[in-house]
Amino acid sequence: MKYCTVGDWRLSRIGLGCYGLSGAYGIVDKAAFARTLRAAIEQGVNFFDTAEGYGDAETFLGQVLAPVRDRVYIATKLSGTGGQPDLSSGAVRSACQASLRRLGTEMIDLYQIHFDDPHTPVLETVAALDDLVKEGLIRRYGVSHLPVERVLAYAESGTLFSILMELSSVARGALDTLLPICEQHNLAAIAFSVTGRGILSGHFESGHHFAEGDIRRMDPLFKRECFDAAVRVREHLAKLGEAYGATAVQMGIAWVLAQPQVACALTGTSSPAHLAENLAASEIDLAQEHLDTLNAFLAQEDSRLADAQRVTVRQILEGPLVTDLEAAFNDLVYVMETAVSLGMAEEGVVMATFLELFSLRGALDENARRQMQGIQQYLRGMLIGD
Ligand SMILES: NC(=O)c1ccc[n+]([C@@H]2O[C@H](COP(=O)([O-])OP(=O)(O)OC[C@H]3O[C@@H](n4cnc5c(N)ncnc54)[C@H](OP(=O)(O)O)[C@@H]3O)[C@@H](O)[C@H]2O)c1
Repeated sequence: MKYCTVGDWRLSRIGLGCYGLSGAYGIVDKAAFARTLRAAIEQGVNFFDTAEGYGDAETFLGQVLAPVRDRVYIATKLSGTGGQPDLSSGAVRSACQASLRRLGTEMIDLYQIHFDDPHTPVLETVAALDDLVKEGLIRRYGVSHLPVERVLAYAESGTLFSILMELSSVARGALDTLLPICEQHNLAAIAFSVTGRGILSGHFESGHHFAEGDIRRMDPLFKRECFDAAVRVREHLAKLGEAYGATAVQMGIAWVLAQPQVACALTGTSSPAHLAENLAASEIDLAQEHLDTLNAFLAQEDSRLADAQRVTVRQILEGPLVTDLEAAFNDLVYVMETAVSLGMAEEGVVMATFLELFSLRGALDENARRQMQGIQQYLRGMLIGD
């Protein structure tokens, strides 16, 4: 394992996250996850990420890490319930105290804001976090994937350590948005979903049936032209990997680690075998000529994908919603995520509609269809102007 120095921290270049313990990647095998966590420690991983919103992951992680607590960094997140945290001063403090209890530790190394609270001023939240640092309850704090303008507001107001961002060779939006903020404000970038939620492994065919509750059932990355583009990227990485004796997953992680601001790449595997594959990527030094070729290929893919996505957004918004209600729901998720990633709409503007759509998720019935038709009409007006 290679390490990097950020201030007085020496972080393993690859960290392990516990999102999978929430069931986000299907059925949870806790025994396998515990084995993976222990294997990670043995192989030199010293950065572990969780969140109050990942089911009982904080408690689980705290118990597994207890014997090595003084050798590892624990990062957790203030998530709120239903993805809408209260970032007011009192709420930040009580959430932190609850996380400390669940983790069974006296100090959180990195406390991250998971989601935005547009109703609380950034300065109030930052003051609350600074107080927690002074009191020794947290060592550092950072932000996760908030709307970019809010990330910037935090970067300008507080003493942030890091920005947690989705970044992989198949999800490259952060290259133009969050990585420049890291560079400008001297913040550590912590990348997540660096294997593209497993897509780079080639284990999934187009239209793969994911288990109930698996977020990849609605993840745009696994849909339509995004999936096809990911397959092309995987094939390119696999070919390039021949020169290094490396798999596409390993080459993908090496590409993430080659981004100058990235301190740590987080994977969330629950399998010791996949972990071993992923960790080996920290040893790959991509030659500059290969990096250049790969970046040129990815830039071409960016414009090819964007063109296809614009056509799809139009088709989804102009036609009738498809009959299958889950597929209709997924189509609207696809439209909103694409609109944000292509700069057709600001994330902050789309967020309210996103939350409205998500409130329907538990009961996709005829009433939900009517509401989804309303959302479709609203998005058509906003994105196409019809
Ligand atoms: N801030 C946020 O909102 C946010 C969002 C997402 C993630 N995160 C954090 O970042 C961590 C990492 O993200 P992630 O969990 O999405 O990472 P990831 O490793 O890209 O995705 C995990 C998924 O990919 C599969 N996978 C990983 N490596 C594989 C391999 N070599 N071969 C086949 N399948 C493989 C895993 O299946 P197996 O278990 O079968 O290996 C699992 O289903 C999370 O756990 C969480 O701590 C934060």
